[in-house]
Amino acid sequence: MARVTASISDIEKAAGVLRGGGLVALPTETVYGLGANAEDPAAVSRIFQVKGRPPSHPLIVHIAGAEQLEEWVQDVPTAARMLAEHFWPGPLTLVLRRGARVPLEATGGLETVAVRVPDHPVALALLSVFGGGVTAPSANRFGSVSPTTANDVRAELGDAVDFVLEGGPCEVGVESTIVDVTGEAPAILRPGGVTREDLEAVLGYPLAVPSTSHVRVPGQHPSHYAPRARVVLVEPEKVIAEAELASGLGHRVGVFLPASSADAPVKAHAVVAVPASPAAYARGLYGFLRELDQRGCDLIVASLPAEEGLGLAIANRLRRAAGPRPTV
Ligand code: TXA
Ligand code: MG
Repeated sequence: MARVTASISDIEKAAGVLRGGGLVALPTETVYGLGANAEDPAAVSRIFQVKGRPPSHPLIVHIAGAEQLEEWVQDVPTAARMLAEHFWPGPLTLVLRRGARVPLEATGGLETVAVRVPDHPVALALLSVFGGGVTAPSANRFGSVSPTTANDVRAELGDAVDFVLEGGPCEVGVESTIVDVTGEAPAILRPGGVTREDLEAVLGYPLAVPSTSHVRVPGQHPSHYAPRARVVLVEPEKVIAEAELASGLGHRVGVFLPASSADAPVKAHAVVAVPASPAAYARGLYGFLRELDQRGCDLIVASLPAEEGLGLAIANRLRRAAGPRPTV
């Protein structure tokens, strides 16, 4: 099947929508983003309305290349320079001191700003035709599962977005790794598509393991990246027994069957075979959660992968998908 992707005229149209203060959904290598002109406070505010996201939660400014970084921040510390040179374009976001060009609407009032250069041809083409920065959170409603296809975006946001750029399914599948380089030592605020091991190899020193206790920004909220179904995490060897127990109690159970139990029979409403490769697991993760919702599951039983490499980001998202939900 031919891969669907935006044409040059789509990209020019999208750039025009951004210039006119509109919202454009754009593909990136991680997840689809909901983009606005970073320098247009009214357009940036619309992002928060459409997502249902509290305005105090900061956004990422996407730019076309590392050479533009100085235009958006006050200074670029050595560690930031090294990481940008090594990982951009790519699934890494750097938090730096906010430059005058960035409105406070985009940073949730913070004096720091998150910046990244996405590694997707459609996103890069849009950024270079548009010329400015594009603030873009993941193109989902606040708290729910991030979209990894253009169809997911349409299902999630419908007419609330002015234009959707097609770019095929996202290659990485989990969001960018966020590294704060404003402090004494760089710190990972959110694990993601660039692994901690790869960051450490470039910096030459160890980084702190992210903690779930910092409730500071939405990606750090205990319940996030969550499907409608309740998510229950158990040890890998207990997944099948737990799923069958819940099925026996009348739940419509979706199972994330660990690769270690690949061919085991399991009585459940829907079963997803977890890929053995962490990269394939990350790429499929949000699609699996969406699929189990679409199949009508009310409970998902899963286990955490080993928390190394991309497993760290996968485990982080599963924990948050399983986190306590706000009571209504
Ligand atoms: O892969 C990604 O990063 C995707 C694609 C679209 O680029 N974007 C994304 O955006 O995940 P969003 O808004 O869903 O998550 C961005 C996160 C926020 O949750 C917040 O945790 C963090 O970036 N963030 C943004 N600005 C920050 C700042 N100044 N200080 C600390 N964290 C910040
Ligand atoms: Mg998000």
